[in-house]
Amino acid sequence: MGDHLAATATGTTAAVGPVITTSGLTKDYGTVLALDTLDVVIGDGVTGLVGANGAGKSTLIKILLGLLAPSRGTARVLGLDIAGQGEAIRRQVGYMPEHDCLPPDVSASDFVNHLAQMSGLPRPAARERTADVLRHVGLAEERYRPMGGYSTGMKQRAKLAQALVHDPRLVFLDEPTNGLDPAARDDMLHLVQRIGHDFGIAVLVTSHLLGELERVSDHVVILDSGRLLRSSATTEFLDTTGTLLVEVIGETGAQDRMGNALAEAGLPCWPQGHLIAVDTTRSTAAGDVHDVIRDVAVDLGVGLARLQVDHRRIEDVFRDGGEHVVGTS
Ligand SMILES: Nc1ncnc2c1ncn2[C@@H]1O[C@H](COP(=O)(O)OP(=O)(O)OP(=O)(O)O)[C@@H](O)[C@H]1O
Ligand SMILES: [Mg+2]
Repeated sequence: MGDHLAATATGTTAAVGPVITTSGLTKDYGTVLALDTLDVVIGDGVTGLVGANGAGKSTLIKILLGLLAPSRGTARVLGLDIAGQGEAIRRQVGYMPEHDCLPPDVSASDFVNHLAQMSGLPRPAARERTADVLRHVGLAEERYRPMGGYSTGMKQRAKLAQALVHDPRLVFLDEPTNGLDPAARDDMLHLVQRIGHDFGIAVLVTSHLLGELERVSDHVVILDSGRLLRSSATTEFLDTTGTLLVEVIGETGAQDRMGNALAEAGLPCWPQGHLIAVDTTRSTAAGDVHDVIRDVAVDLGVGLARLQVDHRRIEDVFRDGGEHVVGTS
């Protein structure tokens, strides 16, 4: 996709204003209130939609696609009304569903090519786009094999490719990391980030793990039993907790050396298991805390494996609600 996708993706629609807005959005299944008067505004870039099983994430996505009618309330996607303009929405939106939707006897190449043609692309363009997206999601030679024999990771990639093939302006990715091992999960998250930032496609991505989405999202929306618990820029999470967790890789003693060097650079810190916790609120370091940590690691010659906000206090938001509903990694 690269330049080609970026150019066409941003060129197809000039969405003015927010990508998604919902107002009083409610879905009552009779026995369960899956969405409860949800008011949320979602912009460009990558937005993480976090919530425990049953929080209402998939329901929200299906309503925004115009596939499911809300019981009450309204929503607009790319300026279009979900009531009545679902088809126009689906033309500009890609959807990676949560569950396996791949025909087992068909190859990824044939499947994605077929969907590209269904979306209106002429044959040669469809073939070209199919090859492009399959390459970008990392399905190489396997793309000619029947998908029934694919690993979970390969299936997730094929599902992602079909969501991107018609050059959407926005994609909904419903649990793209589900079932993946840690390495495949990191690859998928990296891909999600590239879709949002390098290709200029707005992304709404769901997970029940706040920790993994926080790494790749510009903004995080947290749902709890169909209600909005929190919607904020990821950078604001640091303001909430004030603590950054640093993980270093290197020979024995690397963690101690890093801790000492950080303290010397003006960053109060302490060991926390195999991590170093840095109190950013008491920083006397010159410059941005992230930059200082990176520079200290470079100077010491130790690798930085992880640098993330300590969001235990964000999880407290859930505990205050009566239960601990979100995991961290
Ligand atoms: N078709 C349906 N009929 C009745 N109840 C439903 C239906 N679909 C979903 N629900 C219920 O609505 C609530 C929200 O479900 P939803 O699938 O949107 O949650 P989710 O956040 O996507 O969960 P998960 O993380 O498990 O995918 C759940 O309590 C679920 O049981
Ligand atoms: Mg779901």
